[in-house]
Amino acid sequence: MRSLWLDTAPSIPSDSLPAGSAFDSVVVGAGLTGLTTALLLARAGHRVAVLEARTTGAVTTGNTTAKLSLLQGTTISTILKHHDAELARAYVMGNREGQSWLLRFCDEHGIAYDRRDAVDYATTDTGARLLVAEHEACTEAGLDTQLGSAATLPFPVRKTLRLKDQAQFHPLEVLAGLASEFRRHGGVLVEGVRAQGVVKTGSAGVELATTAGPVSASNVVLASGIPILDRGGYFAVLQPMRSYCVALTVHDAVPEDMYLSADSPTRSLRTAVVNGAKYLIVGGNGHKVGHSSNTQSRVDDLTRWAQEYFPTATPAFAWSAQDYAPAAAVPYVGKVPAGGGHIYAATGYNKWGMTNAVAASLALSSEILGGNMPWAGTLYRTRVSPADALQTAQTNAMVGMEMVTGWLSGLAKSGASAPGEGEGRVVREGARPVGICTVDGVQHRVSAVCPHLKGILTWNDAERSWDCPLHGSRFTADGKLLEGPSTSDLADTRR
Ligand SMILES: Cc1cc2nc3c(=O)[nH]c(=O)nc-3n(C[C@H](O)[C@H](O)[C@H](O)COP(=O)(O)OP(=O)(O)OC[C@H]3O[C@@H](n4cnc5c(N)ncnc54)[C@H](O)[C@@H]3O)c2cc1C
Ligand code: FES
Repeated sequence: MRSLWLDTAPSIPSDSLPAGSAFDSVVVGAGLTGLTTALLLARAGHRVAVLEARTTGAVTTGNTTAKLSLLQGTTISTILKHHDAELARAYVMGNREGQSWLLRFCDEHGIAYDRRDAVDYATTDTGARLLVAEHEACTEAGLDTQLGSAATLPFPVRKTLRLKDQAQFHPLEVLAGLASEFRRHGGVLVEGVRAQGVVKTGSAGVELATTAGPVSASNVVLASGIPILDRGGYFAVLQPMRSYCVALTVHDAVPEDMYLSADSPTRSLRTAVVNGAKYLIVGGNGHKVGHSSNTQSRVDDLTRWAQEYFPTATPAFAWSAQDYAPAAAVPYVGKVPAGGGHIYAATGYNKWGMTNAVAASLALSSEILGGNMPWAGTLYRTRVSPADALQTAQTNAMVGMEMVTGWLSGLAKSGASAPGEGEGRVVREGARPVGICTVDGVQHRVSAVCPHLKGILTWNDAERSWDCPLHGSRFTADGKLLEGPSTSDLADTRR
C-alpha cells in the first residue's frame, strides 16, 4: 500500500554523513517533528544533522490525513478527565501556536494549503452527548466551537460541532519546504541512517551509535515517533494505534469540510486536489498495532463505506499508519529521564500530530536554546495523577499478558503447508517461534520474536508486514525493521 502523499511527493535530496561527525544538535527522524525542530535549531545558528532511517516522511507524516485542526474529535473533554482546565488551555495554546507557525511557514514559502471548517458529527444520541461535552470542554479551554445539526453529508446526522477556518495540506509538500529551508541554513539531512543507541553521555553531550558510525552532538532530539531509547520507559505509557485511509477520485460534488465522526467506527473525511485530480480521503477502522487478524478487511470496509455514500467515487490509493496514544492524554515532550540532560523526545500525539508536532518542536527548540514558552511549562510538565498511574499499570499488565499469551500461542502452533500468497503465520520450530509468509510468490522465514522486548509478532495481511502487539515495532516480510521502538531487524531463524 502507498499513500497519495508519498506517491505524489516532491523530490527531497539526501546529504552524506562524514564518519565521526560532531554537531551542536542531532535530530533522529525526518517526519514533521524532526524537520521542524531541526529547522528551528539551524535558524538559531546550530550546526544540525537530521538522521532518517528510511526516507523523509516515510512513516507517520507521509501516511497521515493532514488536517491542521484545533478541533480534534473529543480530545479536550478527554484531557479534562485527566487534568485541570489550565492544562487544557495550555494544550489549546500550544496547538494554536503550532498551527499558526506552520501556516505562516507555508505562506512565506509558497506552500499551498486549503482553509476548511473542521466538523465533528454524531449519528447517534451517544455521539451527540459526546459532542455537547466536547463543546463545553472547548469553550472552557478557549476554543470558539459551535454546536449545530447541519452537515453536507449524504446520511442523517444528529448533531455537529464546528470550528471555523482550520486547514488541510499535502504533508510531503510541507516536509519538502521544511527540508529545503533547513538545508539553506546549513543543515544536513541524511536518509538511510538509523540511530541504534547511545554509546555515552557526558558533560559535553552525547555519542550516538548509528548505522553510519558514531555521531556526537551536544543535544540529541528523538523525533522518531515512539522514542527509540528504552531509558525513558515511553513504550510503557504509549499505546501504538494503527488506522487506515483510502483516497478515491471524485468528479461529483463532495463535502468540502473536514469531517470526523464522534461515533464508532471512526470515519474521517477530507478532500484533496493533487496534480489536477480531486480525491475524497476516508480514514478510520483503527486498532492497537498487532491486534487485528485481518487488516485487509479494514481497508475493504472503508472502501465499501465510501462507495456506499459516494457511488461514483473510484478507489485510487489505500494506506495505513500508526500513532501513539498517551496514557496521560497529552503528549510527552521534553528531556528524556536518564539522558544526562542532553537527550530530548517528543511523542504521544494521539493522531493529532500536525499541530502537536510543531508545538513540540517550538517547545524543544526553545528549551535547547534557553528560551521560554509559558504554555509548554504547563502542558509538558511531568505529572502522573492517580488515574494515569492506574492506566499505566493496566497498560503494563495488559502488555505482560500479551507477552505470555503471545509466546504460548506462538509455541502452540506447528508448521504445516506453506501460507498462500499474501498470507503469513507463526509456527513452532523446535522451541522457536518462526514467522513464515508468502509475498509475490516468495516464501520468507523470520524469527517471530521482536528484538525490542521479545513480543511475538503477528502477520499484517494489508501491509504484508510482521507487527509486534506489545509496543508496535513492525518489520517487512523478510524481517527488515520498518518502525517502532526496536532498533534492529528480526534475527536469523537459525539463531
Ligand atoms: C492514519 C493517521 C491519520 C492521521 N491524521 C492526522 C490528521 O489529520 N491531523 C493531525 O494533526 N494528525 C494526524 N495524524 C497524526 C500525525 O500524522 C502524526 O502525529 C505525525 O505525523 C507524527 O510525526 P512525527 O514526525 O513525530 O513522526 P513520523 O512522521 O513517524 O517521523 C518519525 C521518523 O523517525 C524515523 N526514525 C524512527 N526511528 C529511527 C532511528 N532509530 N533512526 C533514524 N530515524 C528513525 C522514522 O523512519 C520516521 O521517518 C494521523 C495519524 C495517523 C496514523
Ligand atoms: S515493540 Fe516492544 S516487544 Fe516488540
